[in-house]
Amino acid sequence: MDAYEAVITKRDVRHYTAEPIGDDLLNRILQAGRMAGSAKNEESNRLIVVRDQAVQDALAASGDYASWIGTSAVVVGIAAPAESVRMFDVGRMAQNMMIVAHSEGVATCPVTLGHQAEARAAVGLPDDWEMLMVITFGWPIADAPDSPLKRRRVPLDDLVRYDHWS
Ligand SMILES: Cc1cc2nc3c(=O)[nH]c(=O)nc-3n(C[C@H](O)[C@H](O)[C@H](O)COP(=O)(O)O)c2cc1C
Repeated sequence: MDAYEAVITKRDVRHYTAEPIGDDLLNRILQAGRMAGSAKNEESNRLIVVRDQAVQDALAASGDYASWIGTSAVVVGIAAPAESVRMFDVGRMAQNMMIVAHSEGVATCPVTLGHQAEARAAVGLPDDWEMLMVITFGWPIADAPDSPLKRRRVPLDDLVRYDHWS
């Protein structure tokens, strides 16, 4: 699968088999996150890898649309100092990891943690850090139906403007 095909075919998947993700593959995914550039080269984000079932369940309670995340093989949280969270940097790390995972056959979904006190408590994050997003990872269930949340995208000729707005 080349980079274009990986980007174009990646969809967000929330149903996984019970098969674990091995350390070598997980490390490739984490390396992909690591290699994302950061604003001012600050590299202030840190990744929290959660395999422990109790910790995944605690994280599930810290999001409003996260009840399902305890079925993941791995959850990776992207943590940042609260005073300098750069969502662009968080997004780049997240997309790098999701695209590399997809190219290896691993399904993923980004998940918002809206309740930061609970998210901090779940993983023991210091009070001056936030973990606003986690990515779930797992092997996809074969022949699973499409998610009802799956979306068509805005057509290219609506999305893109050339030289001027109109
Ligand atoms: C910033 C962001 C936050 C998201 N948060 C959640 C979430 O909390 N729970 C969830 O199930 N999906 C979440 N999603 C996944 C979206 O619902 C998903 O991108 C959408 O369903 C499109 O899926 P598709 O790429 O398969 O069409 C989030 C996506 C993004 C980009």
